[in-house]
Amino acid sequence: MVTDGKDAPLTVLGIETSCDETAAAVVRRDADGQGTILSSVVRSQLDLHAVYGGVVPEIAARAHVEMLDAAILQTLAEAKLGLDAIDGIAATAGPGLIGGLIVGLTTGKAIALGRGVPFIAVNHLEAHALTAGLTDGLGFPYLLLLVSGGHTQSLIVKDVGRYERLGTTLDDALGEAFDKAAKLLGLGYPGGPAVEARASRGRDSIKLPRPMLGRPDPHFSLAGLKTALRHEALARAPLSESDIADLCASFQEAVADIVSDRAARAMALYGEHLGQEAQRVLVVAGGVAANRRLKEALEMLARKQSFRLIVPPPELCTDNAAMIAWAGAMRLSRGIVDDLSAPARARWPLDPDASPALGAGVKA
Ligand code: KG4
Ligand code: ZN
Repeated sequence: MVTDGKDAPLTVLGIETSCDETAAAVVRRDADGQGTILSSVVRSQLDLHAVYGGVVPEIAARAHVEMLDAAILQTLAEAKLGLDAIDGIAATAGPGLIGGLIVGLTTGKAIALGRGVPFIAVNHLEAHALTAGLTDGLGFPYLLLLVSGGHTQSLIVKDVGRYERLGTTLDDALGEAFDKAAKLLGLGYPGGPAVEARASRGRDSIKLPRPMLGRPDPHFSLAGLKTALRHEALARAPLSESDIADLCASFQEAVADIVSDRAARAMALYGEHLGQEAQRVLVVAGGVAANRRLKEALEMLARKQSFRLIVPPPELCTDNAAMIAWAGAMRLSRGIVDDLSAPARARWPLDPDASPALGAGVKA
C-alpha cells in the first residue's frame, strides 16, 4: 500500500522478535533524512537457549510473549515519549521463526490499530541492509555483506525495497559455522566469541580447506570446512587446550580467507553491474561482523580495492529493534505502509528474482 509521502520528521516505534532477542526501540528520522536512536532495548534470551546449544523456537516464542510488553514500555520510558508521540509502528514480519514473528507482528498491529497510526511490516534483512543509513548517513547504492547466525549474503543495496542478491550460502550460514565449530570443540553457545577468544591463543598451523575459493560466482559454502575441522579434531582427540586453540585459529583463518575472496568477487560484480563510477562502499552487518580477524581481513581487502568499509557498531550489527524502526521510518517517509493483514513470513528473500544458488537450500 502506498500513501502520500511525508517530509516532516517521523518518530517510529520498532519491534523485533524474529529470533532470540526481544527488542523494542524508538527512532526519529528528520526531514533531512538523518536518523537518531531515541532509545533501544534488547532483551536477550541467550540463557534460556544456551543449555540446548541453539535457539529452540517454542521457547523463543513464549519468551517473546512474556518480555515484549515490558520491552516496549521500557523503550518508550527511556525515550521519554508516550505512544501519542509515535507516528508509525514497525514490526519484523520475516524472515525468522514463525512463532516469534507472530508475537511481534500482532503486538505491533494492535498498537497501530489502537493509536490509529500507520503500520509497517519490515523485512529483517532489509533492516540490516539499511542500518548504515542510520549510523553513517550513507546514501545509495552500496555493497552489503550480511554475515550472521542465520544469513550469509552479499547484496547490492540500490534503494529502499530494491536489492540485488549477488552471493549466498549453499549450506551453513557463517555464524552457524562458528557455532557448530564451537559445539564440536566443546566451547558452548553462541560459538563465535568463544572461537575467537581461543583463536587468539592458538596458531594457524592446521591445514583446512577453503571451499569455493576463486569461483566466479560469489557464493559461499561452509559445510566442507566444518567437516574438515571435525576430522582434524577427531585425529587429535583427546584435545589439549593448545589443540583447541590451534583448531580455532586455523578455522578462523580459513573463514577470513573465504570471506575475503567471496567479498572480492562481490566487489567486482558490484562494479560490473553499476559501473565503475558508482560509490565504492562495503557495509558489513550481522553478528559475525564483530569478529576482529574478519574485520581486519576485510579492511585490507577494502583498501586494496579502493572501497570504503563501514561496520556499524556491534549493538547495531546484531539483532536489535532500532534497525527495524529505522527501516520503518524510511518506508513511512516514502509513503510505503502495510495494512493489518500483512502476514508473518518464515522465508522472505530480499531479492525474489535471484536464482537459487546451484539449487541448494538458501538460508533466510
Ligand atoms: O546477527 P546475530 O546476533 O543473530 C542472528 O543470527 O541473526 O548473529 C549471531 C551470530 C552467532 O552465530 C554468533 O556465533 C556469531 O554471530 N558471532 C560471531 C562473533 N560474535 C558473534 N562469530 C564470529 N566471531 C565473533 N566474534
Ligand atoms: Zn539478524
